[in-house]
Amino acid sequence: MTSRVIPVAPFTLTVFGATGDLSRRKLIPALFHRDLDGQLPDEATIIGVSRRPMSDEEFRSFARQALNDHIPASELQGPEVERFLTRLSYVAVDADADSGWPELASRVVAAGDRIPVYYLATAPHLFGPICDRLGKYGLAEQGRVVIEKPIGKDLKSAIALNEQVGRIFPEERVYRIDHYLGKETVQNLMALRFANALFEPLWNNAHIDHVQITVAEALGVEERAGYYDTAGAMRDMVQNHILQLLCLVAMEPPSSLDADAVRDEKLKVLRALKPIDDHNMASVTVRGQYRAGASAGGAVPGYLEELGSSTSQTETFVAVKAELENWRWAGVPFYLRTGKRLASRVSEIVVGFRPVPHSVFGDTVGAIEPNRLVIRLQPDEGVKLWLMIKDPGPGGIRLTHVPLDMSFAKAFKVRNPDAYERLILDVVRGNQTLFMRRDEVEAAWKWVDPILESWRNAKEPPRPYTAGTWGPSAAIALIERDGRTWLEDGA
Ligand code: BG6
Repeated sequence: MTSRVIPVAPFTLTVFGATGDLSRRKLIPALFHRDLDGQLPDEATIIGVSRRPMSDEEFRSFARQALNDHIPASELQGPEVERFLTRLSYVAVDADADSGWPELASRVVAAGDRIPVYYLATAPHLFGPICDRLGKYGLAEQGRVVIEKPIGKDLKSAIALNEQVGRIFPEERVYRIDHYLGKETVQNLMALRFANALFEPLWNNAHIDHVQITVAEALGVEERAGYYDTAGAMRDMVQNHILQLLCLVAMEPPSSLDADAVRDEKLKVLRALKPIDDHNMASVTVRGQYRAGASAGGAVPGYLEELGSSTSQTETFVAVKAELENWRWAGVPFYLRTGKRLASRVSEIVVGFRPVPHSVFGDTVGAIEPNRLVIRLQPDEGVKLWLMIKDPGPGGIRLTHVPLDMSFAKAFKVRNPDAYERLILDVVRGNQTLFMRRDEVEAAWKWVDPILESWRNAKEPPRPYTAGTWGPSAAIALIERDGRTWLEDGA
């Protein structure tokens, strides 16, 4: 098997918030991995920026520690570590004032004719001020800017934020990251749908009974409780990651993988979502909050204990029955659920096909289960197609439900790259296909806002669930009312 890597032009990546959590856990390790794989051009440089004063050497020590913490020791033995660290330098800059900006500007200019990329790994309230100063210091002209969620807390604030960024950077140079789009298996969803003739004819309400999208986490909110309490599962996971997955499952085949061809189709899906508001909220949504329980064999505290507040009504679990109002999907529910402190970490998409219309077998063969296609995002990335076959062996015919199981780790002995590796290099390549366009983000909020509002109007606290379970029993009732059941295939 040969791997074809699209070359990357020389770039200068400036990371604002370079000493923060995202930079330490994701960006620095991702850049190192691509360097290790020989994909960074010699001229690529990385400028770390944050408010705190630090020398280049101190920033390199910080980066070295990030690598030690997040990269297996076996990959840190060679000369590549030093080569990578020499790419790094540091400038202390005040995002909200002018100090440090002239120095940053002269470093970017001194780097020469390279693609300037600005990664804003900062709190969103700094996006506007940083963009303004990038403009003021002449850094924005050819530059590309990368921002990440939360892009607003509702439609209004998302529009305001997009406008602040858009005053300086035109849309074709704004890269809104949703890291789920960079995940290997999420891209495989596109390969599965559009590189096989098998599924597309069946990919509609004539053959598909329903779809389930589960993004379950075993961890609690831990040290992110402060941020999380202002967001909750709907804003943190559904508005972005889960709706993006839904788009990739439900969109019409784009004419190509060009960024706008794909994003136009995703936008149509978001616009086709049936509204959920005061009228139907109670029958199609469930929100929950975890109480103390058990996880990974140990006792764990409840959300309120972790937060240190007894009054928070923030949801740590959401289940939604979503529907699309279009010809392809009318009548096919998309059951979505996500939560913290669930029974295990599993993210997967289950496409449930309709049952056979008539059984030619008698009553004695066992139940004929409908076919299912399961796309496992994590862990154990892979694809399973559940089929009915004859139970092998002598005797009469008995049927059994078995998976054609393709585990990517077993089938391909390659490292599964982190989403950020691909996404950062796509920015340098100028490929926006895996990034959210402004109208997509806003369309997602347009659907989410009335749900949040209906929850506020109802004034009901989230339903409690015990940590280490699959969420409140009402979420089970949500799907079972329709005669279906949640499937935790990879759990
Ligand atoms: C982030 C959310 O966007 O995604 C977190 O803010 C969540 O709350 C995380 O834990 C999950 O990402 P992954 O890649 O671990 O599934």
